[in-house]
Amino acid sequence: MKEVKITSSYRVAKDITDLDKLDRALLLEAKEAAKHAYAPYSKFYVGAALRFSDGQIIQGNNQENAAYPVTMCAERIAFFTASANYPNKIIESVAITVSTTDMKINSPVPPCGSCRQVIYEKEYRQERPIKIILQGDKGDIYLIDSVKDILPLLFDASYLT
Ligand code: THU
Repeated sequence: MKEVKITSSYRVAKDITDLDKLDRALLLEAKEAAKHAYAPYSKFYVGAALRFSDGQIIQGNNQENAAYPVTMCAERIAFFTASANYPNKIIESVAITVSTTDMKINSPVPPCGSCRQVIYEKEYRQERPIKIILQGDKGDIYLIDSVKDILPLLFDASYLT
């Protein structure tokens, strides 16, 4: 039997000063977006900010519901808002941040599987990778060149014949 190894990598920046101007600004937008998260149940405030190739930025944040599974993640709100309103624009990058009232989050929190799948759908549609920038309240920042790097052996429209 043959074994197949899937490898990927991402970069780690020590703090915001290691980022270029555009990435830094996007991360600050994500932190702003998290301020409007509606998360009374989890108290886990997620902010997402994505930048189109023309420089426009769209924000999203998690929106919870007393019927817990109805909750929607910050990333999907940002991506669906982008696709609903600007279907033909190219998304270059997305910054995602997380904070909670209980403690300081000192390391980045990666997007859930469903959000990864939604981010990939947009990559597939626009035929261009989307850079992902992750940070907690403070500390290390992860830079991921494409969601493919964190979604190995993914499913996409090419399997639908
Ligand atoms: N959440 C996100 O917004 N994005 C993710 O990728 C993972 C989880 C939200 C959903 C819920 O409001 C809270 O975080 C706790 O799961």
